Amino acid sequence: MTSALPDEAWRLLTEWLPGNDDPERPQITLSTVDEDGDPDARTVLLTSFGPDGFLFNTDGASRKAAHIAAHPAVAMTVLWPGFTHQLVIRGTAAPAPADRVAAAYRSRSPYLQQLAWLNTHEFAELPREERVAAWAAFEEAHAGVFEQPESWVGYLVTPTRLTFWSSNGDTASQRVEFARAADGSAWSRRYLAG
Ligand SMILES: Cc1cc2nc3c(=O)[nH]c(=O)nc-3n(C[C@H](O)[C@H](O)[C@H](O)COP(=O)(O)O)c2cc1C
Repeated sequence: MTSALPDEAWRLLTEWLPGNDDPERPQITLSTVDEDGDPDARTVLLTSFGPDGFLFNTDGASRKAAHIAAHPAVAMTVLWPGFTHQLVIRGTAAPAPADRVAAAYRSRSPYLQQLAWLNTHEFAELPREERVAAWAAFEEAHAGVFEQPESWVGYLVTPTRLTFWSSNGDTASQRVEFARAADGSAWSRRYLAG
């Protein structure tokens, strides 16, 4: 991704987004298209970004994973920092390599690692007291150490368009947009109304 992405877009990405080792992760609205062509969206955390794309992690049995298998085109909307900057990434999602997926799992908190095991529809249907008891029992049985479940996957999104929106207290908001030509040969830049 770096080789082709304009320097200015990289500068904005690294200025706007927290570093990959910052424990505070940006929340992203991930938009997908389902098997019937209908839109869907949900929040995910941005695990990291780099030359190979924007990485997020999820459950391989989730709805979003089925959508991506049917239509790899996705959009990611990041409000970061605060309400002053919005980045919209349009691109193509592909399964991330196993080592990146494993590293992402290791970087998650013990709570999120345990969640990766227990975040099932069957668990969600249990009465609250049973869910609390089952959660505590699972934690105790594993002594708080949770191996990576097979269902844990990751997707790398290769951007085809990046739109940076910034607010401005003393003048109009504005977007700067970088778009890759359909043949992937070059990026163009243009300014748009906010
Ligand atoms: C702040 C926040 C962060 C979330 N982060 C993730 C995440 O990184 N990965 C994930 O699979 N789900 C995450 N979720 C849950 C998703 O929004 C969603 O409910 C779940 O992944 C199921 O989505 P799906 O049925 O559309 O696949 C997060 C939810 C919130 C509110």
